[in-house]
Amino acid sequence: MKKIKIKSTIFVYENMEALPEQDFILMQKAIEARSNAYAPYSNFQVGAALLLGNGEIITGNNQENASYPSGLCAERTAIYYAGAQFPKAKIMKMALSAGSKNKESNDPIPPCGACRQAIAEYEIKQKSPIEIYFMGKTGKVAKSNSLTNLLPLVFDKSML
Ligand code: THU
Repeated sequence: MKKIKIKSTIFVYENMEALPEQDFILMQKAIEARSNAYAPYSNFQVGAALLLGNGEIITGNNQENASYPSGLCAERTAIYYAGAQFPKAKIMKMALSAGSKNKESNDPIPPCGACRQAIAEYEIKQKSPIEIYFMGKTGKVAKSNSLTNLLPLVFDKSML
């Protein structure tokens, strides 16, 4: 039997003001998008902002539905919009802010597993990493230089 260790590196900024200006602006867009989330069932709002290689900024937020599974997370709302509107543009960065309307959230909130899988698809498609910044409503911001840190042992097209 062989033991395999998997290493992931995540950087943590004390707050969003500590981010480089471009990343701070992207996070501001994610926070703004969060405030427009349609989340009447969970009251948990998520905002996503993508910076594309062509300079476009795409935002998205979670869209819920009375038929719960029909809703969609913020990350996939944004990434699928980018894929639909700018199929040739690379996604350079993704900023995320999440939190419940009913409580504070000062610790970074990472993307869910389904969204990690969706982001992985685009990283593989474009053959370059996507920087991911994620936070709660306030406080620390975590940064991963690539989705692979968040989803080791990814399932991808090579396995089909
Ligand atoms: N949600 C997201 O938008 N992104 C995630 O990564 C986690 C969860 C949304 C889905 C649902 O509308 C609400 O948050 C509660 O799960």
